[in-house]
Amino acid sequence: MAGTILLRDMLHDDLEIFFKQQLDNEANWMAAFTSEKPEDRTVFDEHWRRIMADASIMRKTIIFNGQVAGYVSKYFDDGRAEIAYWIGREFWGRGIATSALSQLLSVMVERPVFARVAKDNLASFRVLEKCGFAIIGEGSGYANARRAETGEYIMRLDH
Ligand SMILES: CC(C)(COP(=O)(O)OP(=O)(O)OC[C@H]1O[C@@H](n2cnc3c(N)ncnc32)[C@H](O)[C@@H]1OP(=O)(O)O)[C@@H](O)C(=O)NCCC(=O)NCCS
Repeated sequence: MAGTILLRDMLHDDLEIFFKQQLDNEANWMAAFTSEKPEDRTVFDEHWRRIMADASIMRKTIIFNGQVAGYVSKYFDDGRAEIAYWIGREFWGRGIATSALSQLLSVMVERPVFARVAKDNLASFRVLEKCGFAIIGEGSGYANARRAETGEYIMRLDH
C-alpha cells in the first residue's frame, strides 16, 4: 500500500462526501443492512444529525493522501462497543479499512468490541479478521439493500 492513512475528527463538511460514497450500489449490496433509500437526503441528514450529536460515539474521518476516503466509528448498542466503517469505492483495495480500523481500535479502551457483517461481505469479513475479530455467532435480519432476509456473522475482538 502506497500512501498515508490518517484518522481525524469528523467535520460536518465531510458529510457531503459520505452522502455520495453511500450512494454506490455495489457498496450497498455488500453492507446489506443499510438505509432503505440511500438517495433520500432528508433521511441521511437526520441519521447523521443524531450521530454527530451523540457524545458517546467516536467518529473519525479517514484521510488517504489528503483526501476523504471514508469513515470509521465506534458506538454503543445495549452497552456493547461496536464499530462501523465505509470506504468510498474509488479507494477500495488499498488496505485503507484495515489500517483505519486498527488505528481506531488502538485508541479505544473498550474490550470486547463487537462487529456485525453480512456473511458474504468477504472484504469486510477479511478486514475484521485481520484486525483480530473472530466469529462468535450468527444472526439474520431484513437487509434493505437486498430486499431480503440476510445472514450475518457476529464477531468479537477480545484483546
Ligand atoms: C468492506 C470495505 C470497508 C473494505 O475496504 P478496503 O479499504 O477495500 O479494505 P482493505 O483494502 O483494508 O482490505 C480488504 C481485504 O478484503 C479482501 N477482499 C476484497 N474483496 C474481496 C472479495 N470479493 N473476496 C475476498 N476477499 C476480498 C482484500 O484482498 C483484502 O484482504 P487482504 O489484505 O488479505 O488481501 C469497503 O469495500 C466498503 O466500504 N464497502 C462498503 C461498505 C461496507 O461493506 N462496510 C462494512 C459493513 S460490515
